[in-house]
Amino acid sequence: MKLPKAGTIEIAPSILDADFARLADEMAAIESAGVKIVHLDVMDGHFVPNITIGPPVIAKLRKYSNLVFDSHLMISEPAKYAERFIEAGANHITFHVEAAGQPQRLIDRLHELGATVGICVNPETPVERIEGLAPLCDMVLVMTVHPGFGGQKFMLEAAKKVIKVREIVGPEIRIEVDGGIDPQTSPIVVSYGADTLVAGNAIFSKSDRVAAINAIRASYKKEPHVKRGAK
Ligand code: DX5
Ligand code: ZN
Repeated sequence: MKLPKAGTIEIAPSILDADFARLADEMAAIESAGVKIVHLDVMDGHFVPNITIGPPVIAKLRKYSNLVFDSHLMISEPAKYAERFIEAGANHITFHVEAAGQPQRLIDRLHELGATVGICVNPETPVERIEGLAPLCDMVLVMTVHPGFGGQKFMLEAAKKVIKVREIVGPEIRIEVDGGIDPQTSPIVVSYGADTLVAGNAIFSKSDRVAAINAIRASYKKEPHVKRGAK
């Protein structure tokens, strides 16, 4: 299970709003829609004001799924815990630049451990903060809400940072967006250069998960209503 090479648009469902009592079924439902990546939101109640899952849940889920496990670590001290997520079966680790003491060292270490690596910026964090680090990663995650909860309103100004990130990383590195992604906002972020779309509420608030994923796919295949480079 490897993060797909850049060049395709992928939807990465976030299970944050899934039925946690039936997670294996939820994973099977999204897999049947043909997605390749599942986005696993890890929160520690410290870096963000919410608590979710950790390595034990990921290790159990690994037995039920062949999807790429994209672990979004919204935790303080990611260097202290990241290795445990890889041991549990995470294929990709994204950490927040705001939380990492020595981000470059962490990127190298995660690569040595065989994971692909993402670096994430919160809405208020300027792109300059990751300018030197982004080209060392496999994916850059641009938050389009304040991390912590699903179902929040999409922040257009934060999404515009994707344009600058794309200029920095070129076509070979994935750019993921996370927060408020749905059939209305997907064409906007795709036109800015995002290629990995995290969607939680837009999928798991609908009873038919497959139809919800297909609705997002259909939205960005239409003519985008904001052109790339728009300010
Ligand atoms: C927010 C999480 C997101 C969240 C997205 O802190 O990182 O992955 O689940 O959910 P929606 O798509 O509902 O905004
Ligand atoms: Zn996330």
